[in-house]
Amino acid sequence: MFRTKPVEQSIRDTEEPGHRLRRDLSATDLVVFGVGVIVGTGIFVLTGRVARDYAGPGVAFSFVIAGVVCALAALCYAEFASTVPVAGSAYTFSYATFGEFPAWIIGWDLILELALAAAVVAVGWSGYAQSLLQTMGIDLPDSLAGENAVFNIPAVLVVLLVTAVLVLGVRLSARFNQVVVAIKVAVIGLVIVAGLFFVRADNYTPLIPPAQSNPATEGIKAPLMQVLFGITPVSYGWLGVFAAVSIVFFAYIGFDIVASAAEESRNPQRDLPIGIIGSLALCTVLYVAVSLVVVGMQDYTRLSEAAPLADAFKAVGQSWAATVISVGAIAGLTTVVLILMLGQSRVFFAMSRDGLLPAWLSQVHPTYGTPHRTTIAVGAAVAVLAGLIPLSALAELVNIGTLFAFMLVSVGVVVLRRTRPDLPRSFRTPLVPLVPALSVLACLFVMLNLPVETWLRFAGWMALGTLVYFGYGARHSRLRRTAEARSTAR
Ligand code: ALA
Repeated sequence: MFRTKPVEQSIRDTEEPGHRLRRDLSATDLVVFGVGVIVGTGIFVLTGRVARDYAGPGVAFSFVIAGVVCALAALCYAEFASTVPVAGSAYTFSYATFGEFPAWIIGWDLILELALAAAVVAVGWSGYAQSLLQTMGIDLPDSLAGENAVFNIPAVLVVLLVTAVLVLGVRLSARFNQVVVAIKVAVIGLVIVAGLFFVRADNYTPLIPPAQSNPATEGIKAPLMQVLFGITPVSYGWLGVFAAVSIVFFAYIGFDIVASAAEESRNPQRDLPIGIIGSLALCTVLYVAVSLVVVGMQDYTRLSEAAPLADAFKAVGQSWAATVISVGAIAGLTTVVLILMLGQSRVFFAMSRDGLLPAWLSQVHPTYGTPHRTTIAVGAAVAVLAGLIPLSALAELVNIGTLFAFMLVSVGVVVLRRTRPDLPRSFRTPLVPLVPALSVLACLFVMLNLPVETWLRFAGWMALGTLVYFGYGARHSRLRRTAEARSTAR
């Protein structure tokens, strides 16, 4: 269960014919990749709800704190990605450091992060598409689009479109991504620059509204930390700012996914750290600026829940800007779905190559050079989820899963320094073990600010994963079978 897979073997596996991915991504491609998946529902949608219900104008502090937490984790991710440049991200890394069962658990956990997040973002996409169609005079009924749809047609369509693009190959999807990321960043720039003209100083007072009790955050919806310390659950105040951190954290998810494109990168050991840290830094600056401008434009109690950036401009009579922002958001959310699904199919690919999932899944397509079977399997699952379930409330579940992965990776950096000091590391996390330790504590702190019900769902998902491992993976593991064959031969 705790047998580790040597790093050299992981790297050798990537050279196996029939299981090899094409290497054609540069450092710039990786940064664009990062920004493509990071800037999404978090900033476009969640900012409004979080400012209104938890943090007030102080939401910018929440973005800063979440950015710092992610920066600590990013320093750890950059070291591991430069040491173990193999598809599968935290999963592969855990296999090399902690052993098979913890690696499986992390892979199972990444499904929460990637597939569920893709479905959440697809539902957000559908809401924006619905509102844009509305301005063009086409009314899609609420039962067929948006947050509360019975069968969410736009969400399913975007997932199927993205699946097709991914099967056709990374080169196409990287180029597609570049254009869309440019549009998205331009729209964010528009919000910041045009918005500045409408900022009113009185919207910033009080910067952090005084704490007050809130029936919406009581019972199992209360943050675990407030329950553990016997605090009556509150909104606003610093506790509100912290609760907001655990939600806006969603906006930063994605820099870690850059690591999962390792095998498709031309020079992974140099370029991955640039991609991971570069994209995170860029997004932090954008988020703090956007959130400051938006809460300055409109009283925080009036921010809209579905499309806060666009609606803030409508509120000041600039509907042209609102339309431009909606178009940009639709384009932007598309790349988020794209890269989340790319990351998910690569994690499955790596797990299946190791025998923890059925092997036929990891065959690479003879013409396109992509793991088409895992891509299609993931696409189908995400389409069903996005079509049938209103998932925005599950963003918290995505966050807890991701934070858990960040913690394991941070610990892993320290472990691998002890067990394999000899491995070449082109990027070294500074101040080991201080930075990894701070990263673990910071992630734990954010997790504790998530609601009790999120913790319960997370525990349920992990218990299911354990059953699947002992039912299939433990018996089919390639590492175990190789070891057993060797001992029989002796
Ligand atoms: N960070 C991504 C988003 O905000 C997942 O949509």
